[in-house]
Amino acid sequence: MIRSVVRGMGAALPRRIMKNADFEGMVETSDEWIVQRTGIRQRHIASDDETTASLGEAAARAALADAGLTPADIDLIVLATSTPNNTFPATAVEIQNRLGMHHGFAFDMQAVCSGFVYAVTTADLYIRGGLAKRVLVIGAETFSRILDWSDRSTCVLFGDGAGALVLEAGEGNGSVDDRGVLAMSLRSDGVHKDKLFVDGGPSTTGTVGHLRMEGREVFKHAVGMITDVIEATFAQAGITADDLDWFVPHQANKRIIDASAKKLGIAEQKVVVTVDLHGNTSAASVPLALSVAVADGRIKKGDLVLLEAMGGGFTWGAVLVRW
Ligand code: UT7
Repeated sequence: MIRSVVRGMGAALPRRIMKNADFEGMVETSDEWIVQRTGIRQRHIASDDETTASLGEAAARAALADAGLTPADIDLIVLATSTPNNTFPATAVEIQNRLGMHHGFAFDMQAVCSGFVYAVTTADLYIRGGLAKRVLVIGAETFSRILDWSDRSTCVLFGDGAGALVLEAGEGNGSVDDRGVLAMSLRSDGVHKDKLFVDGGPSTTGTVGHLRMEGREVFKHAVGMITDVIEATFAQAGITADDLDWFVPHQANKRIIDASAKKLGIAEQKVVVTVDLHGNTSAASVPLALSVAVADGRIKKGDLVLLEAMGGGFTWGAVLVRW
């Protein structure tokens, strides 16, 4: 059977780093509060010349270099983002153009923080359906542009960045020993749409709007939703938490990550945590975390890796990949 195998990985972060202490003169907060409640110590913030498209392009180029490929080898670009450069065209098409790629096709996916997990699942279906052989899957965001910088309950939580994977069609025998995407579970429920949303848009206010979140409400649902889709993914693949080599969760809050891993029985040393370095970068969070663990040699070829995310909508999902 056809499997979508990871061929390369790349990431890009804005030049400017903003530490927790940098907020202290802006809003009533402290490094201590932010670290204790979230685990975040710093985040990267895009300068005027850095956009979702430029960060996505840089991550894509790094992933292509890692794969030993060029844009000519790619058939499809799937970009997960909620902060596109423009309302339309899709920022994926802008990245396609920046890469000098004038064949194939490209589109954006919008599932907020779950965007990358949705995009990997979508790319896998295109590959297994025979519509694409090699796909660039990118998660890129500039949430700093939709933050209300006077709202301490949200502005300290988010950051900017991008990560990308090259997925390539490969052969497998249908077992969990195959390399590639092995199992996935996606969910959404719009009943929660007002708990994490942006208060503007083309069809309502005609403005871009700002991010609004009932943090405690999101927190309350997060662990249950995350563990549900992971258990569904484990059941699909016929594995348990003990079989995993690495758990790469969405990086929103260290307390959510710890509670989810504990509930699932995933050992602490298998959990990749980068929320301290990047904050919550929405659809870029999982590929950025992956890129750190691949670069430092933790995630190696053949490892069983579980990706997970939960965010606005709500949307949530998990993907199991053998690296
Ligand atoms: O990526 C999508 C998914 N998003 C998430 O997963 C986020 C989920 N939610 C969270 O991570 C947490 O709920 C937060 C980090 C957002 C907040 O932590 P919390 O422990 O739930 O705090 P809280 O909202 O219950 O607020 C506790 C107190 C409040 O003050 P009072 O009402 O107790 O006097 C807040 O006003 O902390 C206050 N507070 C702050 N204090 C200092 C809120 N933000 C800040 C701040 N600095 N930045």
